[in-house]
Amino acid sequence: MKYVIGNWKMHTTVPEAVALAGKIEDGLHDQVQGGQTLPTVVLCPPFVSLTALSDVVDGRVIQFGAQNMHWEPSGPFTGEISSKMLKDLVRYVIIGHSERRLMGETDEQIAQKVAAAYQADLCPILCVGEAKPTDQAAGHVEDELREGLAAIDPKSVERLIVAYEPIWAVGTGSPADEKHIGEVISYLKEILAGLGVKSADVVYGGGITKQSVKHVLTVPGVDGLLVGGASLNDQEFLSIVGEVARQYGT
Ligand code: PGA
Repeated sequence: MKYVIGNWKMHTTVPEAVALAGKIEDGLHDQVQGGQTLPTVVLCPPFVSLTALSDVVDGRVIQFGAQNMHWEPSGPFTGEISSKMLKDLVRYVIIGHSERRLMGETDEQIAQKVAAAYQADLCPILCVGEAKPTDQAAGHVEDELREGLAAIDPKSVERLIVAYEPIWAVGTGSPADEKHIGEVISYLKEILAGLGVKSADVVYGGGITKQSVKHVLTVPGVDGLLVGGASLNDQEFLSIVGEVARQYGT
């Protein structure tokens, strides 16, 4: 498993973010000193903390991502943040998170954001996921994936992260069951291969905690985790990273 991504959502003031990232950084250094090979740990704090964090955090153990961005580099878009503003601060950007889709973000906007991320040399973390456990997950995630990549030539993409997040599992502390996650992730990988994307990783998110992570780690084909609530507690987040490192580190 290559990635553990922490999505802090609309939590933490700047001093709180600096303190939390500092504790996570110390814990990661301890894990390295204990001989563990860490996955790539990506923290996605609120925009306002990115400058302070990138000044103080050790880039060898923590990388940064943004939670969203606008597709235009600049312009009359009050309240928005562009890839041009982010590119010196982050390497990754979450695009199309279900909480943003709920606020009205459309597939077309998401596709434009994905294209803008590549133009700025950022790696998109494109979120897809069905709303209810009874929904046809495969058809739904396929549509969201194809729509999300509609403004780029998928064959030209060097690096893409797709986050499979069943919306009904987000914020519950209970991930989807292993069989469901495995099936949807292998389906997403088939589509990505069919589209000709050279290097795509598919991560799972929704309900990951230090307890529930153990189940998800048994699912073949999962390239990483997108962790929301549990990434706001340093000990809990470090336990999750530690589990991943124990299982997959060399
Ligand atoms: P959760 O959130 O881990 O709190 O379920 C995941 C996400 O929304 O990215």
